[in-house]
Amino acid sequence: MLTNRPRGTNDFLPGETEKWQYIEQAMRNICRTFGYKEIRTPIFEHTELFLRSVGDTSDIVEKEMYSFEDKAFRHLTLRPENTAGVVRAFLENRLYADPQPTKLYYIGPMFRYDQPQAGRYRQFNQFGVEVMGSNDPSVDGEVIALAAELFKGLGLKNLTVKINTVGCKDCRPNHSKNLKEYFSQYKDELCPTCQSRLERNPLRILDCKEEKCKEIAKGAPTTIEAACDNCKSHFAKVQKYLDMAGISYQVDTNLVRGLDYYTNTAFEIVVNTIGSAQNAVCGGGRYNGLLEQIGSTDMPGIGFAVGMERLLLTMKEQGIELSLEENPAVYIASLGEKAAEAAFGITHELRKRGIYAEKDYLSRSLKAQMKGADRLKVKYVVIIGDDELAKNALVVRNMADGSQEEVAIEEIVNYLEGRLKNV
Ligand code: HAM
Repeated sequence: MLTNRPRGTNDFLPGETEKWQYIEQAMRNICRTFGYKEIRTPIFEHTELFLRSVGDTSDIVEKEMYSFEDKAFRHLTLRPENTAGVVRAFLENRLYADPQPTKLYYIGPMFRYDQPQAGRYRQFNQFGVEVMGSNDPSVDGEVIALAAELFKGLGLKNLTVKINTVGCKDCRPNHSKNLKEYFSQYKDELCPTCQSRLERNPLRILDCKEEKCKEIAKGAPTTIEAACDNCKSHFAKVQKYLDMAGISYQVDTNLVRGLDYYTNTAFEIVVNTIGSAQNAVCGGGRYNGLLEQIGSTDMPGIGFAVGMERLLLTMKEQGIELSLEENPAVYIASLGEKAAEAAFGITHELRKRGIYAEKDYLSRSLKAQMKGADRLKVKYVVIIGDDELAKNALVVRNMADGSQEEVAIEEIVNYLEGRLKNV
């Protein structure tokens, strides 16, 4: 019996992979104009890296990591996200010694042991950017604008950019204190995980997926109430830059993110069409304490990640059709052993000249080959049989108007190349 793919994973087949290539190209293009360079890091990292960055009270670390021991008993984890890995690579490769800021992007798979449903998978792909080495609010503006422009360029509608400030190391303790006081009143009603979070990290309760906790969290004090003057002024400047970039946004004082490393600006881009639990196509924010936490280099950072499956799902829901499948230009039909050999040679020669050419591989009848060529919507079919070879006059049929011409075998490649250039 066939072993099926693991739950929460996907096979992307031809027809769909073209769409992946298309959005990836759009991502690479926008990164080029914004000056972001690609970084590729390992798909697994030391487990400790995620404990120290994403946070040991986060849902990701508490419930969702694919962790394992390798044969030498190292504790490793399939990356649930890539900010930690990119920051690690930045520090390990001493990119901080280069002129700053460092502007990076990545595209690749992430792994979370979550409940699979539409738009939520156990292996999923993210496009993300990370900027390290500047706390300038224009970087926040730029990063949010990059995501918004990407989506606009892909034709997405009904998007909302939500922004908030979650405070810094100076004002975060005030916020935590406010939250602790608030949630303590409801201690017995919170889920067991949140009861333990109350002592360890009350901020995480705001991110709980349990209905009861969500209900209680609605009345919780906001970060802006506890924000210090620096955070308030940084947040005001970010908004100014977004206004200048023509990006509309909503300030959402309840917006908190599910990872521990965020400081100052936090944001999400949500689509108003898919269900409420998984409508964030993009999430990100500042992480000014993270580099120090991971590698004792005190440098600020900010970034986001886009869920690529969610992006494609949203494009489909919004009726954004991408017809990207390419058809071969030429089909070489052949009958008989000698003709099949000639077909191989001609097909190869055409391909070497960059022409997409197809041939028969199953010794089918000429009728079946012509049907196949029709299905492939080719522009020209070359027909080679024993007669045509003997007369050195291959038949070229123009599929658009049904007209036929005879062409010598040594001329056929030049002939087709010339015709296709003029199309
Ligand atoms: P995140 O909010 O955990 O942030 O994930 C970013 C995006 O990845 C989400 O908005 C969603 O579109 C997608 N995503 C998350 N989990 C799943 C899943 N199970 N299935 C499908 N898509 C999913 C981060 O990962 C941060 N590293 C973002 C960041 C970068 N912050 C700063 N720099």
